[in-house]
Amino acid sequence: MIEDKIDKIINKYQNKNGILIQLLLDIQRELNWVPRKAIEQINKKLTIPVSQIYRVASFYTAISLKPRGRHLVRVCVGTACYVRGGTRLLDSIENKLEIKSGETTNDELISLETVNCLGCCALGPVIEIDGQYFGKLNSEKLDKLLMNYT
Ligand code: FES
Repeated sequence: MIEDKIDKIINKYQNKNGILIQLLLDIQRELNWVPRKAIEQINKKLTIPVSQIYRVASFYTAISLKPRGRHLVRVCVGTACYVRGGTRLLDSIENKLEIKSGETTNDELISLETVNCLGCCALGPVIEIDGQYFGKLNSEKLDKLLMNYT
């Protein structure tokens, strides 16, 4: 049960201070997102205010308050990637997966997000899938790449 998984993680942090980020990251890793239920359980067991939990969870992009798919695709739409066709790649991915940025496919396989720079502008346009970077992409390379994840 999901509540038991969350409880087990929370229990590791009982009677410790300054643990909220690590706790949320552990839940994120276990469930692939941080559901409302987890926030309520943290509030109840560790007496951390709900508003504080949301503030921290919303600040870190590694933590998602919406269900995330098994794979996370992040498309760079920063300036360097934009001028090299980053938004065309984004359109192409959105059409192929039939979701918009910020959404997850119905089968919960892939979540799509945009990012303003992945720090490797010379390789633009760049996308990141599950932490791995793929650069100098065009639509043909993109199709082949996505086939590995769909
Ligand atoms: S703008 Fe895309 S990696 Fe920097």
